[in-house]
Amino acid sequence: MEYRLADRMAGARGSIIRDLLKLAGEPGMISFGGGSPAPESFPVAEIRRSAEEILMKKPAAMLQYGISEGYPPLRESLKAHLSKTEGISFEDNEVLILSGGQQCADLTAKLFVNLGGTVIVEDPSFVGCMNAFRSYGGKLLGVKMQEDGVDLEKLEVAFARPQVSFFYLIPTFQNPSGYTTSLEKRRAIYRLAIKYDVLIFEDNPYGELRFEGEHVPTIKSMDEDGRVIYAGSFSKTMAPGLRVGFLVFHKDLFNKFKIAKQGTDVHSSTLYQHVCHEFLTSPAYEKHIAASCALYREKSRLMYDEMKKCFHPAVRFSRPQGGLFQMVWFPEGTDAMPFVQEALKRKVITVPGSAFTTDPDQPSNGVRLNFSLPSQEQIVAGVRILGDLTHEMLKG
Ligand SMILES: Cc1ncc(COP(=O)(O)O)c(C=O)c1O
Repeated sequence: MEYRLADRMAGARGSIIRDLLKLAGEPGMISFGGGSPAPESFPVAEIRRSAEEILMKKPAAMLQYGISEGYPPLRESLKAHLSKTEGISFEDNEVLILSGGQQCADLTAKLFVNLGGTVIVEDPSFVGCMNAFRSYGGKLLGVKMQEDGVDLEKLEVAFARPQVSFFYLIPTFQNPSGYTTSLEKRRAIYRLAIKYDVLIFEDNPYGELRFEGEHVPTIKSMDEDGRVIYAGSFSKTMAPGLRVGFLVFHKDLFNKFKIAKQGTDVHSSTLYQHVCHEFLTSPAYEKHIAASCALYREKSRLMYDEMKKCFHPAVRFSRPQGGLFQMVWFPEGTDAMPFVQEALKRKVITVPGSAFTTDPDQPSNGVRLNFSLPSQEQIVAGVRILGDLTHEMLKG
């Protein structure tokens, strides 16, 4: 039959990254393409032990429907954790447990994006969330990223537009750029949002994975008027297969978010919410985060050092202080797509910067590399292949 799809699906696009990931399993392939955490970082023993224990103690409750707002002890332990680590106050805020950070974006769009409404995003930004905003009929407006966060002058012009649904940003160890928005810019963004009455959607799945430099306070910790919706996830700090994330927002929004969740998937996995609570409240959690950071520090430095040695000097890149990504930039005006395609022929997966822009059909001079998933040997071998390619492409 000829399907008459809803108007809101007209702008919806698939993720090129998920397509590339299918290739990653092919023999001999080195993948810098995905955004997956290192499997060797997974707290397998702790998760197995707590899942077994909980299933033994409360089998029926674990297999029964749960409540939409999430497992109450996990909501409480998250409040304590986020107050301590991110300085977020829960006097006026609430937390809802959702099925990963992706659902945080989906439900925020469900609540706030009208058909044709403008969603302002960093340029580049995370393709998964941009696709969620598009699927509710949102029109994306990108504001160029600089190493210390978005260009504030351009942001102000964007904020002055009518019908802005919200400004979506990933201020810490951004996906894809790896950049962290400075404290000054975070304050300025919050002030501008007040001036133009814009809602902020702060996404922070990588914040705990800092392996260098000083912690920068979240915008949510500066929020005095309920203007910031804050998303977090256990995908990168525990394991993405658990599908547990969380959203923090002013308590006036609680019922609306709860209803949005009920209409989507009723509630998140009961068993895994219990597992997350057990792990988050155990002394093993802090040790696990420290070990993950140490692992990513090593991998990130190795990738950076190898790139310094092997890449053509005209290719720009900075040294990440946390997270999972490293972006490289060819000289302005270069289309990085032929590089990505040729790298793929040589069995190295990278992602073109165009995948992270509001118009993926426009060329980009950027390429995203992930350093968490590949082994150290793969990082060395893969960067050498990419390095040769940079010299071939930029010669003459
Ligand atoms: C910035 C950002 N937000 C959200 C997500 C979604 O993650 P998850 O749904 O696994 O929590 C990702 C995943 O890579 C991400 O990079």
